[in-house]
Amino acid sequence: MPVISTPQEFNVDDLYVDLRRLSGHPLYLKCEGFNFAGSIKLKAANEMVSAAVRSGALREGTTLVESSSGNLGVALALVAASRGLRFLCVTDTRCNLSTRQLMTALGAQVHVITEPHPEDGFLGARIRFVKDLVAEHADHLWLNQYANPGNWTAHYQTTGPEILKSFPEVDVVFIGAGSTGTLMGCARYFRENKPSVRVVAVDSVGSVTFGTPAQPRMLPGLGTSVRPPLLDESYVDEVLHVAEADTVRACRALLRHGFLFGGSTGTVLSGATAWLARHDRDVTAVAIAPDLGERYLDTVYHDQWIADIYGADLLGEQEAATLARRMP
Ligand SMILES: Cc1ncc(COP(=O)(O)O)c(C=O)c1O
Repeated sequence: MPVISTPQEFNVDDLYVDLRRLSGHPLYLKCEGFNFAGSIKLKAANEMVSAAVRSGALREGTTLVESSSGNLGVALALVAASRGLRFLCVTDTRCNLSTRQLMTALGAQVHVITEPHPEDGFLGARIRFVKDLVAEHADHLWLNQYANPGNWTAHYQTTGPEILKSFPEVDVVFIGAGSTGTLMGCARYFRENKPSVRVVAVDSVGSVTFGTPAQPRMLPGLGTSVRPPLLDESYVDEVLHVAEADTVRACRALLRHGFLFGGSTGTVLSGATAWLARHDRDVTAVAIAPDLGERYLDTVYHDQWIADIYGADLLGEQEAATLARRMP
């Protein structure tokens, strides 16, 4: 019976969905959304703040500042509330409404960037804003998830070992890449502890992380418009790029079976399913589901939003018919 006194102490770290029946391939989905922040980013938030306290960088009266597409912002808002710290999250217009509301409810201040930088996109604009802020205010501390070692060590210490403990026979892991904290922490852990594990990074089409050209992306979580400094590609065996339309299809396919997962779970699942179909052999495969789906009710699971952004063809026959009936 877990009994806790701070919200960041609790995390479900051994829950997997067996997707063999749904995807047609042997695949276990590690669920990381069952904690008080609702996503895997609680691990990184907790470790980055703890490291800043240990180093003395975070003192009484410090305001934490971070650029986040949403989930890290919620996790930091929770950790800040629990530790009595001030927190300012710099996000952009792609951040889900419910995520913004959650951060505000937890006591954080939220600044939304509305204009992307001409070359470096929304992420570039967010980072410039944060840099200006910390240059102006000596009591503001930028944790910088894109370069902070705590972002990957959190997963080196937890996510990687958890997978190996649950599946000692694991052959391949599929990991979504945003700041690449999860990817680098798990990849380093497997390189040192079970080097035969194939580490497959899953990114969205339009992300520049692995050197492909930038294109507009609508879903938060995975992908970047500025290459993350944490990334060391020598630890990554393979990279898959998934189009947002396929992300949506995978999310909605899971939903038809009662599983409401977040957008990047759809991306990872779509990439993993395609990979497993190409490598038709008996492997033990694990994919990481970073969050759940409630924060995506106004995007991935909203028929009109899908029709507006990707076209009504993406909706299943039943959903498209319902939408057509609702249209004037
Ligand atoms: C839903 C979701 N998926 C995936 C990621 C990417 O994880 P990482 O930043 O560790 O690469 C994030 C990061 O914010 C996220 O919020």
